[in-house]
Amino acid sequence: MLMGRVRERARIEQLLAGARLGTSGVLVLAGEPGIGKTALLQYAVQRADGMAVLQARGVEPEAEVPFGGLLALLRPALGELGEIPAPQAGALRTALALEAGEERDRFAIGAATLSLLAAYAERQPVLVTIDDAHWLDEPSLAAVTFAARRLLADSAAVLIATRSGAGEASLPTLTLDGLDRETSAAVLEHRAGRPLESGTANRIFELTLGNPLALVELAGATGDVVADPPLPVETSVERAFGRRIELLPEPARRALALAAAEGAGDLGVLQRAAAEVGVDLAALDAAEQAGLVMVSLSALAFSHPLARSAAYRSASPADRRTAHRALAAAPGDPDRRAWHLAAAAIGPDAEAADALDAAGRRARVRSAYAAASASFERAARLTDAGPDRARRLFAAAEAAWLAGQGERVGRLLDEAISSGAQDALRLDIEHLRGHAALRSGHVMQAHDILSQAAAVDPARAVVMLAEAADACVYAARPEPMLRAARGAWDALQPDADERQRFFASLALGTALIYNGSGEEGAALVREAVEILERSDALSGDPRLLSSAALGPLWLRERAEGRALVARAIASARGEGALGALPFSLWLAARDAATGDRWAVAEALYEEAIRLARETGQGTSLSAGLAGVACVHARQGRVEDCRVHAAEALALTERLGLGFFRLWALDALAELELGLGNVEEAVARLEEKEQLLAERGIEDPDVSPVPELVEALLRLHRAPAARQRLAQFAGRAEAKGQPWALARLARCSGMLGGSPGFERALGLHALTPDRFEEARTRLCHGEWLRRARRRVEARVELRRALEMFDDLGAAPWADRARLELLATGETARRRDPSTLDQLTPRELQVALVLAEGQTTREAAAKLFLSPKTVDYHLRKVYRKLGISSRAALADVLAGPPEKDQEPIPMRRPSTEPTVARSNPPGGRAG
Ligand SMILES: Nc1ncnc2c1ncn2[C@@H]1O[C@H](COP(=O)(O)OP(=O)(O)O)[C@@H](O)[C@H]1O
Ligand SMILES: [Mg+2]
Repeated sequence: MLMGRVRERARIEQLLAGARLGTSGVLVLAGEPGIGKTALLQYAVQRADGMAVLQARGVEPEAEVPFGGLLALLRPALGELGEIPAPQAGALRTALALEAGEERDRFAIGAATLSLLAAYAERQPVLVTIDDAHWLDEPSLAAVTFAARRLLADSAAVLIATRSGAGEASLPTLTLDGLDRETSAAVLEHRAGRPLESGTANRIFELTLGNPLALVELAGATGDVVADPPLPVETSVERAFGRRIELLPEPARRALALAAAEGAGDLGVLQRAAAEVGVDLAALDAAEQAGLVMVSLSALAFSHPLARSAAYRSASPADRRTAHRALAAAPGDPDRRAWHLAAAAIGPDAEAADALDAAGRRARVRSAYAAASASFERAARLTDAGPDRARRLFAAAEAAWLAGQGERVGRLLDEAISSGAQDALRLDIEHLRGHAALRSGHVMQAHDILSQAAAVDPARAVVMLAEAADACVYAARPEPMLRAARGAWDALQPDADERQRFFASLALGTALIYNGSGEEGAALVREAVEILERSDALSGDPRLLSSAALGPLWLRERAEGRALVARAIASARGEGALGALPFSLWLAARDAATGDRWAVAEALYEEAIRLARETGQGTSLSAGLAGVACVHARQGRVEDCRVHAAEALALTERLGLGFFRLWALDALAELELGLGNVEEAVARLEEKEQLLAERGIEDPDVSPVPELVEALLRLHRAPAARQRLAQFAGRAEAKGQPWALARLARCSGMLGGSPGFERALGLHALTPDRFEEARTRLCHGEWLRRARRRVEARVELRRALEMFDDLGAAPWADRARLELLATGETARRRDPSTLDQLTPRELQVALVLAEGQTTREAAAKLFLSPKTVDYHLRKVYRKLGISSRAALADVLAGPPEKDQEPIPMRRPSTEPTVARSNPPGGRAG
């Protein structure tokens, strides 16, 4: 009988009521053993009348069984598999070992779990309970957490019980404390069946702090406390159970130890194992009478997990091994058998190691990477030092990497080396080490590791050096990039396959562009794209597609770049390859930001950031944060900009991602400039200037000089402005591209008058960047006003104002409005554009639906449930005052974009366009 817990019951009732009304809710109940988590889950199940209940429970000995938890949970819902997107259903079937299939991105299973829960909840409201989540196998827990984070408008309530400190996975959490004094006394009296003296009840309460299990287990019926007060409940209660076990007859103790080693409570398995070692399960009667286990027709359950661990620990090590050996010998599931063999082993053991190795391989094919990694690691520990052990450690590291457990990778790889990895394996090890460093954001470390490893084996050097070159992009180091890329190119053998050719061409092409040889680079990038298009094996890989897109986008060949990015996104979404999405989304976002679709950019950045966090990708996370900060700066969203830029700066500093550091500094400088905080803007711009000088990046497109000139002039520091402009002019003229030349001309205008501005406007017309044009018009207007040419000033200022308003560049529009006012003209503030009223999530949903997708298709693409998509759509309709998808498409199409035409390259471009001009590196806007 559940006593007290008024607050917790209320939360649970609320959750259930919400699910019945079609609002999902998730709650984690965290607390120490015995605090009453399971009791609350049971309470929820009792209160869930009219709801379907899906349940799973973690048990310690089963923690490595891949997707054991998820299978138990979803079994009743598997009838809905036909209702969810086919690729997701396939991924789930393979994961649950219902059919054979291929390895997938680990998040594909999470997406499928979400879809299946949502489909099941369409029939009737669902309560999901997961008990002892800290022992649920990792892949299952990850899938459930993924789904729980995304439930919003479905009839589902999710309750997860876990030990505190077990990583509550950023879900809403309620931490359970002990029962209060009165409730504790009530519990004691209920157990004793009679009133207790208040002194006794008080003493027990103080010793147990109201932990209900401790209350019950530590106080005998008489109220004598047999506790070890200073110990944590976990220990004291387990000891109390231990003392009870010691009083049992020997056969009961042996049977209990066997049951504890088995853990899942499967009586069939237990019987077979018991026969093997001559244990009599009937002896469990005594344990049942002692309140340690409950035996039903098919299952045995310990009264509490601490009773199980006490039973396990009170057996001698030899008895435990005997139990595990018997369990391994009994016919049953091969994965469980492998773990029992391991537990039975003393020292290296080839049979156990082989069994675990095989279990690891099975887990991997089911995309249960965490389970695979644990199996391989354990297999390695049971293997003598030497090449086999090294190979198993490497397999453990690789699976850990795919499981998103980046922190384990380095240690496992080090161990693989020290246990005797030989040539080819050593290279695999260094390649993985470098690759992991690249994705998690330690980019120059990645470069060093990969280039060193490449020196060892020419046959594999191509891909490694291409990745090393890639690392340099994000570190903002053009010079080593070119060196690595040339290395990749030179390492190409005559018989190189298309994958190697693709990597070599792309790396050298982009490195040449980054280092100023645009034309030569462009040809190579195009070649890479062609190789990709020709190859069936390559052209469906979202990762390769998005790297390939970077090239054309650098070249401002937007149409082609966009098509590749769109394909990369579509293929990643289709396969549920979430890990590949942040990078592609980021590219698409940058493309939108450098045009005039700022709201779209924000929506894409938001998704990129969320997924990069979830998948632990530091490089893409920095990119997304710095990128979205640039958009916010221009929109004058001060808080949003500062928060995102600060996080980006901290990350880029820690990881050495100079490239995105430049972006974050840009964002902050532009924010201050827009707000009129000129001194602060100068400080940021000089910081950026210094970073560029340090790195030897001379590309005028990345230069902050045009902003600095504007700011310095406002501070009446004309000589400093002139001095900087002279150097910038040389570089911009040498490059000969309109974007930088326009900015140069604007500066000349600020120093010398109208001809400069006129020239700038002519050049702006050759680029898609309306924000830059508007800024030139604003400066020109300001200059004209000061020259007392009011009528002309008004023309320019009105035009600037209109452009800033169109873009949603609020602080800049305000500046233009003030200038206009100074000429004697009052301009009204324009209402924010319709799209600005949508949250990034709503806009993202709207964008996908406007492509003509059904709700279900959109849900599959966005990893949301169909009901959640509808929920967002209703809000979008309400905010935009429309009621159909056709109208939605019209609103989103907006006025035709001005930058669809590819920009012809006038001269070899001395990029990195990436960091300053148009996509993907151009300034947001
Ligand atoms: N609020 C409560 N009132 C009465 N008994 C409780 C209460 N909470 C827990 N118990 C009892 O205490 C014991 C331990 O609770 P349990 O839910 O198993 O803890 P946990 O799952 O946190 O380890 C169980 O016997 C349970 O019935
Ligand atoms: Mg429990």
